Amino acid sequence: MKTIIEPFRIKSVEPIRQTTEAERAAILKQAGYNVFLIEAADILIDLLTDSGTSAMSTGQWAAMMRGDESYAGSESYYRLEKTVRHLTGFRHVIPTHQGRAAERILFSILCKPGLIVPNNSHFDTTRANIESTGAQAVDLPCAESADTQAKAPFKGNIDLEALDALLTREGSARVPLVMITVTNNTGGGQPVSLANLKQAHEISRRHGVPLYLDACRFAENAWFIREREAGYADWSPKQIAQKMFSLADGCTFSAKKDALANIGGLLCANDSRLAEQETNLLILTEGFPTYGGLAGRDLEAIAVGLEEVLDEDYLRYRIASTAYLGRHIADHGVPILEPPGGHAIYIDAARMLRHIPKHQFPGAALACALYRHAGIRGVEIGSVMFGAEARHELLRLAIPRRVYTQSHIDYVVEAILEVNERRNEIRGLEIIEQPRFLRHFSCRFQPVA
Ligand code: F0G
Repeated sequence: MKTIIEPFRIKSVEPIRQTTEAERAAILKQAGYNVFLIEAADILIDLLTDSGTSAMSTGQWAAMMRGDESYAGSESYYRLEKTVRHLTGFRHVIPTHQGRAAERILFSILCKPGLIVPNNSHFDTTRANIESTGAQAVDLPCAESADTQAKAPFKGNIDLEALDALLTREGSARVPLVMITVTNNTGGGQPVSLANLKQAHEISRRHGVPLYLDACRFAENAWFIREREAGYADWSPKQIAQKMFSLADGCTFSAKKDALANIGGLLCANDSRLAEQETNLLILTEGFPTYGGLAGRDLEAIAVGLEEVLDEDYLRYRIASTAYLGRHIADHGVPILEPPGGHAIYIDAARMLRHIPKHQFPGAALACALYRHAGIRGVEIGSVMFGAEARHELLRLAIPRRVYTQSHIDYVVEAILEVNERRNEIRGLEIIEQPRFLRHFSCRFQPVA
């Protein structure tokens, strides 16, 4: 059958509030045309992020009740450690309050001015945490990713030739680690193939540099490998994930994505000396190594989520639902980053709004138009977020896990098609106020006259 159904039923509901277009116009003005500054209560369907926004299962809520809140040696930690070791094979499992805390600890030990960290594409916090140590974050996306319309199966891949060339030129003295982000969030939620990971592993090893995964969306990546890469159709998502992790020396992980939790992160490593340094830093700012800034109940939710996210019915529905949104708007003329990603659909705003130049932020302008029209919130991934480094001007519609139903998705499709019909009325934006770092979170705009 073709109908996508959610492989769960709903036990607890949360009302969402309709507003009028006039109300939303006033709210936008008040928020300086930055959707990050709109109160969540004023949003109807929130596709700002898939991070920390998952609905938890009965299994997770039940596990939370047995959360062991001991300061040291919490049983909940050992349960999580066992799950993570079984999944990833990494020897050291360090909990953190979210992914960026793991990044900060890792990079503040390994990075300093003059060093370079390559990645298929750094996420914004990853880049910021590297750059705040004085090191340089370099994106090496594969060639296919340059064309948003190309339907290649693994557009998240790292450019292996460029990686080899960079390592040959700079050597292990200047490159403390190589990172690969699965799926490639900045590059459109696109997967990385096992073949690409294997080769990146070999190249890094040959140059004596450790390879790390930014593993936020490892389960979605594993599903794409099963669907698209020859030889893995009979593997379980878990076996594929285990294979992915086996090619890396460690990982950073945000449990707010593919652990179906509302908070949490992990820093994993095989290197015992490094893990000891990491633990020392952890104690300084996050907490004792058996809780790392989280409550015992959060550790439980993550441990259960890591199992649930690899369920085949869940992953099949998850990827199908995102693809449904992508296909239904793309097949009616809205240019999206092809093919649809795992956690999000990215509208190519520069292509859709050809009358708005890059310096007037087409992605942010589209975010405002979609909110004003239908109360839907997406996020710009383009020149506001990355400045001159931006390769595309995108509006990301990230789908929270297990939260919205098929009829919500149909509403989003209809709204986008209506906005697309009136696209010529959308005006660009100019920035009138901005902070020094990560400006997209708090800058204010005004519409261009
Ligand atoms: N790495 C990637 C690839 C991410 O997508 C994120 C977060 C992080 C690291 C940081 O994790 O939020 O737990 O500190 N991405 C969210 C997003 C915020 O909306 O894409 P965190």
